[in-house]
Amino acid sequence: DWTPAHFITDTISQLKEKIGNRKVIMALSGGVDSTVAATLIHKAIGDHLYGIFVDNGVLRKGEFEQVLETYKQLGLNIKGVDARQLFYKELKGNPDPEAKRKIIGRLFIDVFQQEAKQLSGIDFLGQGTIYPDVIESVSVHGPSVTIKSHHNVGGLPEKMHLELVEPLRFLFKDEVRKVGRELGIPSNLIDRHPFPGPGLAIRILGEVTEEKVKLLQEADDIYIKALKENDLYATVWQAGTILLPVKSVGVMGDERTYEYTVALRAVTSVDGMTADWAHLPYEFLANVSNEICNNVRGINRVVYDISSKPPATIEWE
Ligand code: XMP
Repeated sequence: DWTPAHFITDTISQLKEKIGNRKVIMALSGGVDSTVAATLIHKAIGDHLYGIFVDNGVLRKGEFEQVLETYKQLGLNIKGVDARQLFYKELKGNPDPEAKRKIIGRLFIDVFQQEAKQLSGIDFLGQGTIYPDVIESVSVHGPSVTIKSHHNVGGLPEKMHLELVEPLRFLFKDEVRKVGRELGIPSNLIDRHPFPGPGLAIRILGEVTEEKVKLLQEADDIYIKALKENDLYATVWQAGTILLPVKSVGVMGDERTYEYTVALRAVTSVDGMTADWAHLPYEFLANVSNEICNNVRGINRVVYDISSKPPATIEWE
């Protein structure tokens, strides 16, 4: 029978067998899957695992620094790459959701390959692919339609002539979390909500600019912290803020304001395929709204998204 401890022992010995004395490069995202996969590979081959964590400019507030620090504590051999300005430059003038995804995917591959070039003798690409990703990439990228280009680094292994190492390929998310806990990965990483690869770029409707990212990071940080402080974070599957491309009139003291609106999103779900809007308490929503409007200059209105999936999606783009 399946237990996290057995899985870990078996996987580590399989990885040792497969990789031997060779080297693995891997992109880390700060998410549960890549962190657990990297930790397993690291246990098998130590510093022959080279992790790359890219700041694409559309991460959450403070995320890059916090996640790097956690990797360090886990003893992982990870290089942080600050590529923010490159991403902002290329995102400029591109309001279309799929175009933004493609730009972010392409730049990510560029940056990653650049880093890979500086390392010699790499044979493997590590990935945190889990079982639902395997199924979903078949249905999403089926012959007829592309719903959303979820898998932003598809094509990378072929391009780089690397063999894949995917220790979580047959696990579901809850199993990955169990393995992560057993490995001693801190709960702030294990119990984290899913966060899309294109990050805040698909939560800023329309064109992404560094200024808009800063605004949204502040609002998002207030919301997520409040969810945690009120013990609501674990009750929702995913939550975030969306910066709408709408300005509206408000009043602040004696002054008229004309600023952006932020939408709060929180959903309950089992797998993200369907979702219900989370019935968060009014008092909580009122407090978050006040805190955002009072503290984030540039936002004067907060709305709550009460749409379920389907027909809406979790993200707005
Ligand atoms: P939707 O908006 O399709 O989202 O209901 C379902 C789940 O997928 C995530 N998502 C993405 N993840 N790249 C990703 O890595 C993407 O382009 C992308 N688009 C949506 C979304 O955050 C939710 O968890």
